[in-house]
Amino acid sequence: MLSTVRDGDRLAGLRAGGAVVQRFGLALDGNACGPLWAAEPMAIEIKSPREIEAIRVSSQMAAETLLLVGDQLGPGMSTEEINRIVHEDTVRRGAIPSPLNYHGFPKSVCTSVNDVVCHGIPGAQVLRNGDIINVDVTTFYNGFHGDTSATFYIGEPSPEARHVTEVARRSLELGIAQVREGARLNDIGAAIQEFAEAQGCSVVRQFVGHGIGRKFHEPPQVAHYKPLGGSNPRLRAGMVFTIEPMINLGEWEVEVLDDDWTAVTRDRSLSAQFEHTVAVTKNGCEVLTRRSRPLKHSEIFPTVLSP
Ligand code: MF3
Ligand code: CO
Ligand code: CO
Repeated sequence: MLSTVRDGDRLAGLRAGGAVVQRFGLALDGNACGPLWAAEPMAIEIKSPREIEAIRVSSQMAAETLLLVGDQLGPGMSTEEINRIVHEDTVRRGAIPSPLNYHGFPKSVCTSVNDVVCHGIPGAQVLRNGDIINVDVTTFYNGFHGDTSATFYIGEPSPEARHVTEVARRSLELGIAQVREGARLNDIGAAIQEFAEAQGCSVVRQFVGHGIGRKFHEPPQVAHYKPLGGSNPRLRAGMVFTIEPMINLGEWEVEVLDDDWTAVTRDRSLSAQFEHTVAVTKNGCEVLTRRSRPLKHSEIFPTVLSP
């Protein structure tokens, strides 16, 4: 549906940020950020209970669509087929797939296979036994976005694929566990980096989590590592943002392919990612994209990594 262009994000057309920050220079680590992100208001919005309810609705749609993808995934399926499933399920709900036409992104979902870190474009690639794939679903409904992703196993994973995927899964859980009113934003990334590196993995720096609501990407930027310098605000009840650690089996550096979207590990090592949209509360947080049941082809191993 080309009516997706009605999303105010895309009409504005000049905004960027969140997971696309890499294109405009890093705002973290005290480096100057690019002109587009710098033009954004830096304040972190506090959402009202009504706004959070609306984000919860969009988030639950995204979560249900991700569950549907998990039900249907398997060897022999193309990433284009995943795009079709996500697009049709989203539209069936009366919603819009946020990625479609977002800063020119050509498809309705990101599908990132093996050494693709994020922003993989669905196409002719056929999934094969042993692949891992992150499917990143964002749903725009009633003026609000909800954003969630998971990494899935195609057939039997290698020990390496299983390791990086389970480390990424646990990294998200540990990041979420930091969130409560009064904690500091950078506590999230510090906890993730400490864990992931202790497991022999690395944490991607170029892409970060992001505030979300009426806009797909808005302040704050949520690093998944411990930033050196820069502001480190306290979290307040009513803040809504994503946590979406990208964890590499090798080194953390990424490069973007000639399609201007697909980000791969520079050393071509495997990369895995999980993402939730969360709302800060007084005592913790609410995972707005929480799932109603386990994710097929992903949540299949007992949790063996210690906290
Ligand atoms: N869903 C991604 C995120 O987690 C953003 C995808 S932007 C797109 O922030 F244009 F590639 F879809
Ligand atoms: Co996101
Ligand atoms: Co996402």
